[in-house]
Amino acid sequence: MHNQREQQHLGIVRGLLLRMFGQPKGILGQLGGLIMVSMNRNFAQWVIHLLEVQPDEKVLEVGFGPGVGIQILVAAVSTGYVAGVDNSKEMVAQARTRNAKAIEAGLVQLQHGSVEELPFENDTFDKALAINSMQVWPDAMVGLREIWRVMKVGGKIALGFTRYSGQPSTGLTEMLTAGGFTEARLVETDQGFCALAIK
Ligand SMILES: C[S@@+](CC[C@H](N)C(=O)[O-])C[C@H]1O[C@@H](n2cnc3c(N)ncnc32)[C@H](O)[C@@H]1O
Repeated sequence: MHNQREQQHLGIVRGLLLRMFGQPKGILGQLGGLIMVSMNRNFAQWVIHLLEVQPDEKVLEVGFGPGVGIQILVAAVSTGYVAGVDNSKEMVAQARTRNAKAIEAGLVQLQHGSVEELPFENDTFDKALAINSMQVWPDAMVGLREIWRVMKVGGKIALGFTRYSGQPSTGLTEMLTAGGFTEARLVETDQGFCALAIK
């Protein structure tokens, strides 16, 4: 009986966390977005540094949340382009507000959509990334193959996860290889880890 109540409480907590961070929705989602802004900026800097973005490159971020990674990417591309897809309307709204100037300048486009069906042609992006996102995709392999499809041959992908993301680091490089990528490797820091690979 006691155990059953604990399970129920755990289920409620998981549901709240999902609504705040995993698939942000409503007031809780908006609050989750604000929390992620302050918590994840340094980590996003680190992942984007590993991606070695060049000024003329086209970059895709999946699951951009409140749009902090997009802000950092904008600073790295001057003649290139940054695209983002996130399946939370709340996050698309927050990220659009945060990046309003770059959107107006035509440097950034942020869309509501899902990683399973990206609204881009084959071979479009030089770089792609997802931070603390893949662990909540309905099917990670479908998402990875879809990112592979829209990337250029020779392009680089980075999948970053902070320690609290819930994503284990084991098996990540194998998943990238199964998704069609090569040279998959894992880099670790105090805050989390990042899997890198080449299309
Ligand atoms: C934990 S948040 C991370 C946000 C941000 N990258 C960060 O690190 O602060 C996960 C994000 O992935 C997005 N997401 C979840 N499932 C997705 C999917 N299937 N396709 C695209 N985005 C997704 C969520 O809406 C959310 O914005």
